[in-house]
Amino acid sequence: MSEQEYPDEATEREDGSSCATWLEPRPQRNPHGTADLSGKVALVTGGGWNIGRAVALKLAQAGARVVISSRNRTNLEETVAFARERRLRVRHLVCDLTIPSEVDRLFEDIERNEGRVEVLACLAGGFGAGQPLPETNPKEWLDVLLRNFYSTYLCCRAALPGMLAGKKGDILTCAGGGAFFPMVGVHATAYASAKAAVCRFTDQLYAEVLDVPGIRVNCMEPGLTWSPKDLERIKAEEEATGQPHPLRERNHDPEDGAELALFLLSPAARPLNGRILSVDEDWWQDPERVAYVARTDLYRLRRTFEAE
Ligand SMILES: NC(=O)c1ccc[n+]([C@@H]2O[C@H](COP(=O)([O-])OP(=O)(O)OC[C@H]3O[C@@H](n4cnc5c(N)ncnc54)[C@H](OP(=O)(O)O)[C@@H]3O)[C@@H](O)[C@H]2O)c1
Repeated sequence: MSEQEYPDEATEREDGSSCATWLEPRPQRNPHGTADLSGKVALVTGGGWNIGRAVALKLAQAGARVVISSRNRTNLEETVAFARERRLRVRHLVCDLTIPSEVDRLFEDIERNEGRVEVLACLAGGFGAGQPLPETNPKEWLDVLLRNFYSTYLCCRAALPGMLAGKKGDILTCAGGGAFFPMVGVHATAYASAKAAVCRFTDQLYAEVLDVPGIRVNCMEPGLTWSPKDLERIKAEEEATGQPHPLRERNHDPEDGAELALFLLSPAARPLNGRILSVDEDWWQDPERVAYVARTDLYRLRRTFEAE
């Protein structure tokens, strides 16, 4: 794992360019009031890329001491450089989050240098094994489960003792396509199973820590969010065909997921626990709707059935 200091002042990259110009954090526009995470230590897994990067920057903007972690050092460093340009506190630690001993070392490092993790955003994951089932490679199929689901379990396992001792903590897990409905026309048994498992895990963990009111476990579904690489490819396709991509309308900016993540990890979402929220809905922006949902079992993972 690599060590890196928090920035004291903004620095530019050597070539003078601004990194990740595709991502510009919006000012907070939280209808519940400004979310203040000052003094909190936050770990964002998958924080070197796309949605995870936007979440990391958003939490740092809200005052948290943010640590980001994943495997790709270059991407992590780019997030840190981007934060540095904006005088935000982000540190990176390289870690394969599917390896228990590496995850334990990650948390030991954070506790030693920042303190206990009070805010945990498990964004690491990603699609894979997207072939018809008989053609899938078992190792790749399992890897999708490991990086989406097992990494979430390992991070929660490492974070919970500190949260239980301090009687407070906010955990955010990450759902995705196929968790609730079949994706027609896509081969996604691994991804759908992994994300469904993340949702079930969230619901069960919520129930298991229910007697500690300061701990919340929620899940977000960030919606279709093309990464910079996807955007380049899709733009080229659109130029070639002269037509907008059929999914362009549905595509979200990473900032959409980041805003939802910030809400779910902020005191404004305190009434919500064990819920799964999607960027495709905006009811959570209305405090009255939040209070209403909190009195119901809406937005939980439940089998619906017809009452007799
Ligand atoms: N983008 C979408 O359209 C979309 C839609 C719904 C849900 N999601 C979910 O939202 C989350 C973030 O998506 P994204 O688009 O920002 O990222 P992504 O392109 O799906 O990339 C996966 C992320 O997980 C990290 N990761 C994968 N395996 C890892 C491992 N073994 N150890 C540590 N980190 C690992 C990657 O970092 P390294 O490569 O550096 O390890 C990367 O940051 C994911 O859980 C994804 O499944 C995405």
